[in-house]
Amino acid sequence: MNFLGIDLGTSSVKIIIMNEQGNIIESVSKNYDVSYPHAGWAEQNPDDWWNSTKNGIKELLNRENIKPEEISGISFSGQMHGLVILDDKNQVLMPAILWCDQRTQKQCDYLNKEFGQEKLSEYTGNMALTGFTLPKVLWVKENRPDIYKRIAHIMLPKDYISFKLTGIFASDVSDASGTIMFDVKNRKWSKKIVELLKIEEKVLPKVYESSDVIGNVSKEASRETGLSTETLVIAGAGDQAAGAVGTGVVDSGMISVSLGTSGVVFSSSEKFYMDKENRLHSFCHANGKWHQMGVILSAASSLKWWVENVNLDTDGDAFEKLLSEAGRSSVGSNKLLFLPYLMGERTPYNDPDAKGSFIGLNITHKRGDMTRAILEGVCFALRDSLEILKSMNVEMSEIRVNGGGAKSKLWRHILADVFNLKVNIVNSKEGPAYGASILAAVGCKLFKSVDEACKVLIKTSDSVEPIKENVEKYNKIYKVYSSLYYCLKNKFTEINNL
Ligand code: XUL
Repeated sequence: MNFLGIDLGTSSVKIIIMNEQGNIIESVSKNYDVSYPHAGWAEQNPDDWWNSTKNGIKELLNRENIKPEEISGISFSGQMHGLVILDDKNQVLMPAILWCDQRTQKQCDYLNKEFGQEKLSEYTGNMALTGFTLPKVLWVKENRPDIYKRIAHIMLPKDYISFKLTGIFASDVSDASGTIMFDVKNRKWSKKIVELLKIEEKVLPKVYESSDVIGNVSKEASRETGLSTETLVIAGAGDQAAGAVGTGVVDSGMISVSLGTSGVVFSSSEKFYMDKENRLHSFCHANGKWHQMGVILSAASSLKWWVENVNLDTDGDAFEKLLSEAGRSSVGSNKLLFLPYLMGERTPYNDPDAKGSFIGLNITHKRGDMTRAILEGVCFALRDSLEILKSMNVEMSEIRVNGGGAKSKLWRHILADVFNLKVNIVNSKEGPAYGASILAAVGCKLFKSVDEACKVLIKTSDSVEPIKENVEKYNKIYKVYSSLYYCLKNKFTEINNL
């Protein structure tokens, strides 16, 4: 038995094949672009996702050791919150509006103020934020009524891929949680939201638990990809829940941090729990339980932005070069701070107008200081979510870090020092894609439950302990960092109006 895990990310789709022992035996990754048609907008074409996924699967199946009939199950991890809409011929009606798109402030104001945050959070467990799906649906209704009236199906990004593989419209509880049309506590679409906002429930997909089987690979998808029609397709999860499964964060008190395109502090819980002020998101987990999380919009993408835009005369790996320069800077980046609000910010400010900024530049600063300030700024931004968890008395003993940024030992050290917590990585480096293949294995009954699979398959490795002297320095810097947004808030809006 082998299991295929598909992680439909923002910059690429990663596909891995895991065997029964939990080893990754093959993997492939295909990149695609994000288009930014206006400042603050972010879109992708769902067919680019499908073509990349299809080509990736075909490439894997061409490798000598992989036989289609030996792939028992497929499951998914997906970038969350994106709005994908199809007409009654199952054709995509417009580019997908992504999780980091910020165009829906007006619709969020309507939902949180007129409709009412209290009501919204009673029905869904959350408040409306610009990245979430429901405000996007309302945006289309208001701004593209021609398209709105043709909507026959609404789905999330990974659900488009599962539809292309099976012909079935399905989603899962963890991803559906991020739509704000979902009753997170009771794990079903919210009748109230659907009724009050006049959304036809029939346009929403059927929702499954993450390790439930939704069907088989269809004949058409089998022709297109080379997969067998015997292969089961399992619902999957949003990337944060899948990443938590892939790092074994399935019990209370366990915290995962993701240093992916976005950055996330994720806490798993036995019971549904909602912070009254909705400072953190309360979503369903992929193991039948729940989780809370805080999300920053630009984590590894801040570093990617820097690598792409700084003038580097290197034939080698640009990331490596910049990170080794950063390693030669010092704790606090020689008194330079960076606010990573390149796409606005979600937790804790919910402010689409927030801007990225270097603060404290002087003539002695080198590129290495600036790179290190970016790594530190991302950790400070994540600490904002950690502080909220602490204020909720969430117990935390260790954190497990995943995402592209976790590959950097320097970044893990900075995280341990800024959080004052031991930072572990796990044996599998593929977080969300690994989580997806675990969900496939559970769906195919190799394990009794997601928790059991995690206990068997996931081991921590390579711990990084906080260093007291650095922790003290970072505590001081964090105090300054956390006041900067408030000093600049109005200026960010004035810049918009220039
Ligand atoms: C989670 C979130 C991001 C995206 C993209 O709420 O918005 O993690 O899923 O990774």
